[in-house]
Amino acid sequence: MSQPVTGFSKLNKEEKIEWLNSHYLQNSPDAIKVLKQYWNEDAKLQQLHEEFTENTLSNFYLPFGVAPNFLINGKLMAIPMAIEESSVIAAASKAAKFWGSRGGFKATVINTKKIGQVHFIYTGEKEKLKRFYDYIKPVLLDSVRDITQNMEKRGGGVLDIELRDKTAALENYYQLHCYFETKDSMGANFINSCLEKFAHVFQAEAENWKEFTSEEKDIEILMSILSNYVPECVVRAEVSCPVEQLSEENGMKGEEFAQKFIRAVRIAEIEKYRAVTHNKGIMNGIDAVVLATGNDFRAVEAGIHAYASKNGTYTSLTHAAVEDGIFKFWMEIPLALGTVGGLTSLHPLVKLALDMLQNPSARELMEIVAVAGLAQNFGAVQSLITTGIQQGHMKMHLMNILNQQQATPEEKRIIVDYFRKNTVSHSSVITQLEKLRQQ
Ligand code: MEV
Repeated sequence: MSQPVTGFSKLNKEEKIEWLNSHYLQNSPDAIKVLKQYWNEDAKLQQLHEEFTENTLSNFYLPFGVAPNFLINGKLMAIPMAIEESSVIAAASKAAKFWGSRGGFKATVINTKKIGQVHFIYTGEKEKLKRFYDYIKPVLLDSVRDITQNMEKRGGGVLDIELRDKTAALENYYQLHCYFETKDSMGANFINSCLEKFAHVFQAEAENWKEFTSEEKDIEILMSILSNYVPECVVRAEVSCPVEQLSEENGMKGEEFAQKFIRAVRIAEIEKYRAVTHNKGIMNGIDAVVLATGNDFRAVEAGIHAYASKNGTYTSLTHAAVEDGIFKFWMEIPLALGTVGGLTSLHPLVKLALDMLQNPSARELMEIVAVAGLAQNFGAVQSLITTGIQQGHMKMHLMNILNQQQATPEEKRIIVDYFRKNTVSHSSVITQLEKLRQQ
């Protein structure tokens, strides 16, 4: 049984690897080789990556790909995607091509307000707190001028502060519920800095507020933090076309396809088990672009799933209908993204991804990401109600199986050729490969 390690963060990278290897990897020379083979030859680039986080041992690669032919608001784009799952980029590209010849995707940012909260405990008369808040609100806004100066120059800043009484849910619990506009930055640092300043000033001024008794003066600040739930930072993505234009490529009449599609979406609207998988497919597209553009996919995930249950039950993020012979498919999602700050100018691939997108504003990136999610969902549901998901998926998965089996380029060529006309399954690939190797 190993003992807890102290001072681990002070060890250099080689020493950390040595320690890990001797304690948890049975002193395996292979383990060291695996870790080191992902170090970048360019020492500066390696150091850059190491400094993004702590206790770095190596780099963890994900494929960085592109889905071309996305017509968004009349502009043709190639969307960068960082994702390990096979079929996702292929499905996005297919959906892009399909909708590209039917008017393309439309996307609109509905609003861009972000939220942060100071959570505090106050044990006293509510009316007094309300009077104190009326006094303190302009003082708080003024107190962050040095933090907000640059943001205000770019058209952002603190939009408003509300006092929220949450005592019905938790005894003596109140919030300063604050709204922010952070323009092209995701704004986490900006928001958190403002909130911590608000908290400090709020608490200090309460101590001098004459109306408060000594107990009331003793406001307890619990925490000050942005919210990753951003229901007022929402983007809408949509596609539409006459129903009869749905027939091509789908192997059925447009009317039948539309009906099946709408019913499949309806099931995700009313059935939680399906809704989660349906939305997971949407997140395949969203996360891949969010990651490629250096944004915080955990924040985006958390916010979107909360939004999917905003009415009390978890439901589909996308919706579909036919109106006057026109098939419509759309989605509204909250997205807090940045195209400046954070990794955006530091990580060379993130920079490249943003260049590929012609350096979008945060609003434009919201539109692109939402479109990638909608396209992904269209592709998934289209497959599910026509050929089934496995046909395309297993074809893409074929390469993973072949790589697992360390197939040579020649073996790959022969096996891929064989499975052009045969159904892929894990066992059938192994059988074919064994046969080939026996020959
Ligand atoms: C797989 O990653 C995503 C799907 O399961 C999504 C869906 O079922 O809609 C194919």
